[in-house]
Amino acid sequence: MKFKYIAGNKVVVKIFILIQLLIMAACVEHQSDKYEAARKRMVKIQIRDRGIKNQAVLDAMNTVPRHLFVPLEYQNEAYNDYPLPIGYGQTISQPYIVAYMTEVLRPDKKMKALEIGTGSGYQAAVLAELVNEVYTIEIVPELAAESAGRFKEMGYDNITCKYGDGYQGWPEHAPFDIIIVTAAADQIPRPLIDQLAENGRLVIPVGLPAAIQELILITKKNGKPVERRLSYVRFVPFKRL
Ligand SMILES: C[S@@+](CC[C@H](N)C(=O)[O-])C[C@H]1O[C@@H](n2cnc3c(N)ncnc32)[C@H](O)[C@@H]1O
Repeated sequence: MKFKYIAGNKVVVKIFILIQLLIMAACVEHQSDKYEAARKRMVKIQIRDRGIKNQAVLDAMNTVPRHLFVPLEYQNEAYNDYPLPIGYGQTISQPYIVAYMTEVLRPDKKMKALEIGTGSGYQAAVLAELVNEVYTIEIVPELAAESAGRFKEMGYDNITCKYGDGYQGWPEHAPFDIIIVTAAADQIPRPLIDQLAENGRLVIPVGLPAAIQELILITKKNGKPVERRLSYVRFVPFKRL
C-alpha cells in the first residue's frame, strides 16, 4: 500500500513537470509568434506594397529576426517603419531602405559581399541569407565586437566582421560582387571601386551630413564605374579614423 502511494506520487510529479514544460513551450511559442506576425506585417506593408519585388529579398527580410539586432528597450519597435538607435550615436536603418538597397544589388547565392558600416549587424545578416560570404567593417569598436558576438550566437558562419575604417575596403578578400556602404560619404571611396568585381554592384549614400544625400549605384563595366542616381536618403555620416 505504502509502495503504491510513493509510486503514485512519482507519477503526479512527472505529470506536474510535463505540464510546466508544456506551459513554458507555449510561452516561448507565443513570444516568437508575436514577432513573427509583426515581421510578416512589416514585409507586406512596408516593403512588398512599396514595390520591392525580389522574392529572395522578401524571404530574407521575413527570416531575419530584426528584434534581436536592437537594444532590449526597442525590441517592441523593431518592426516599425523607422530607424532605431543602437548606441554610440548610430542607428539601425529603416527596414524599407535595407530591402531597397539589398534589391538593387541583385544578390545571388554564389556572390561575395562587402559591407561598410556593420552597425547592429542586421543588414549583414539579411545579405548572409542571400549570398555565399559577407565581409563587414565597423568603425565603432564596441559595435564591431557586439555584432561579431551576435553573428556567432545566431550561427551566421558566413559573416566575417572586423573593426576598422571601411574607406580602404578589405583588399585581402577582394574582388567583391556586391559592396554596400551604410553611412553617407562626401565622395565614393576609390579603393571600394577598385575592389568591385567586373559586373559587380556598389550602392552608397553620397552627401554631407546635414544636407540632401543621394543613393548612388555603381556598376563596373569593362573595368569602369558606371553611375546611376537612385533616390534621396538620410544616413549617419561616414567617419574616418
Ligand atoms: C546606419 S548605421 C549602420 C546600419 C547597419 N548596416 C545595420 O544594419 O545596423 C552606419 C554605420 O556605419 C558606421 N561607419 C561610419 N563610417 C564608417 C567607416 N569609415 N568604416 C566603417 N564603418 C563606418 C557607423 O559607425 C554606423 O555603425
